[in-house]
Amino acid sequence: MCGIIGVVGSSNTLGTLLEGLERLEYRGYDSAGIALVRHGHTWRARAASGTESVAALRSECASAPADYPSGIGHTRWATHGAPEAVNAHPHLDCSGQVAIIHNGIIENHVELRAELVERGHTFTSVTDSEVVAHLIEELRAQGLDLLEAARQALLRVRGAFALAVMDCREPDVIVAARRISPLVVGTADGATYLASDVPAILDRAQSFYAVNDDEIVRLTPAGFMAIGLDGAPVRLRQLHIDWDLETAEKGGFDDFMSKEISEQPDAVRATLLDRRRADGTIVFDELRMSDDELREVKRVVLVACGTSHHAAQVAKYAIERWARLSVDVDIASEYRYRDPIVEIGTLVIGVSQSGETIDTIQATREAQRRGARVVAISNVVDASLAREADAVVYTRAGLEVSVASTKAFVAQVAALELLALRLAQLRGTLTPAQVDLHFAQLTSVPGHVATALAREADVKAVAAQLLDAHDYFFLGRHVGFPTALEGALKLKELTYLHAEGYAAGELKHGPLALIEPGVIVVAVATDPVMHEKILSNLAEVKARGATVIAVARDEDTVIDAVADFVLRVPSVDAMMTPMVDIVPLQLFAYAVARGLGRNVDRPRNLAKTVTVE
Ligand code: F6R
Repeated sequence: MCGIIGVVGSSNTLGTLLEGLERLEYRGYDSAGIALVRHGHTWRARAASGTESVAALRSECASAPADYPSGIGHTRWATHGAPEAVNAHPHLDCSGQVAIIHNGIIENHVELRAELVERGHTFTSVTDSEVVAHLIEELRAQGLDLLEAARQALLRVRGAFALAVMDCREPDVIVAARRISPLVVGTADGATYLASDVPAILDRAQSFYAVNDDEIVRLTPAGFMAIGLDGAPVRLRQLHIDWDLETAEKGGFDDFMSKEISEQPDAVRATLLDRRRADGTIVFDELRMSDDELREVKRVVLVACGTSHHAAQVAKYAIERWARLSVDVDIASEYRYRDPIVEIGTLVIGVSQSGETIDTIQATREAQRRGARVVAISNVVDASLAREADAVVYTRAGLEVSVASTKAFVAQVAALELLALRLAQLRGTLTPAQVDLHFAQLTSVPGHVATALAREADVKAVAAQLLDAHDYFFLGRHVGFPTALEGALKLKELTYLHAEGYAAGELKHGPLALIEPGVIVVAVATDPVMHEKILSNLAEVKARGATVIAVARDEDTVIDAVADFVLRVPSVDAMMTPMVDIVPLQLFAYAVARGLGRNVDRPRNLAKTVTVE
């Protein structure tokens, strides 16, 4: 995800910005830029050399002026517009006096851009962010100071932002604001800083303050003042930070895994941003496939590996139910070698966090060779899978560092369900009211995921009692089945314990023979329609001496009769349950792994991106 940094009142603005950007590199990015500001002049440099962009920017800055006291810098993770220098931040207004950097997504950028172009503004990038520079330009022309101009501009903006703006007519001021995307302010003698993440300014600032949603801050060398976007004064909360750099990069968490598990509400939220127009149409700016092409789809094949394969399995239920298209899900490494049938109208969707998994890439190449149209679902902009596909939908989970995938899974499910809704809209298989309802259910998921995360202590307490266990069976029905598979995979990877996922109905067709005292059965039991059936399955395993853990809805009053331990989750529509129910299963795997002293970020024998067949 994008990173931002800014400083006013520095004797070494360039050094502060470049070092700060280097410290933001760990978040993942594809381009970078800075703007240095002094009275009457803005000096800007940008570079788009993938993960080498900050190094390239450093070279670009060899001729940068040394005496500019203020500036802003940005590492970009492309969402709107390719990762090219022209789309890298900072963006300027028409006069070149206003410079902005932005992390997040401006949902109504299309309307705002049209309006601004109509009034004579010239855009130089295809980003959503640039509209803010031009909105502020207009308000400045009306005589408003930078704070008020930025405040009024942001009142017109829908979406998420951590944003900083400078104007070379007020060179000692940076105005920064936040909604959803994180923002911190730091103070030190004679200089004031801002950043998306503490590591960027850890060794420069002495005190740190958190900016909350819908707050706007005016930074000067002497300090800062903050107001709400409604204009009312607010006090920023001071953060007590005694972190070293490594801890700061993990956001204060013990490891990347727990940080990434905690980021899941944002991963879903960001993936859903700006996907629905005011008239209810689901849109993907980056899709590169026309409505007519999507309407011609007769059959869908999803190919993926590991966790992404589990997200694809969830998508089968959503696409079949909502878009009434027949869907097959294939393990990517199997698809390629079994002479797959590709008929006219076959849409192949390759799902991958990294976008670099060779099995998935080879499967989509094979599908293209046989005439299929291919859509990539990728978490990395411009990854090989995304580049080679005919179309792409990006998940916006941000960089995943921990080897085992967590936040990418929930973002993939959200993106695939959105695509299912779009297909349903185009095929007329859902009414507009039904699409609206499901979209609203999707947008409520981040809140429910946050509730499930807040119950970590309950999960830990269960895990602490089961550290001696060696055999796990994860069961589920309907979308609870891929959720169970993913829960089992997380436990295997993180703990090295034997864990298998099964469709609960399959139990009596074989695996029941393995159930005996000491075996732990984890059941995803949240689907009300399937509930009675799951209860019978649990009664069967209980009768054979297994210990039962059930993931169950808050309202479920009967589950206690068959489960030894119940992990409660808030109730959501069945199709949304995988994104919520996976949370206690991830937390459980994490807690057991920690209890057993495993390296949760780097499990043995595994690589984050598998680029060999
Ligand atoms: C499991 C995990 C792997 C990946 C798989 C595919 O936690 O991380 O199973 O999901 O290797 O990787 P991507 O999604 O990058 O194609």
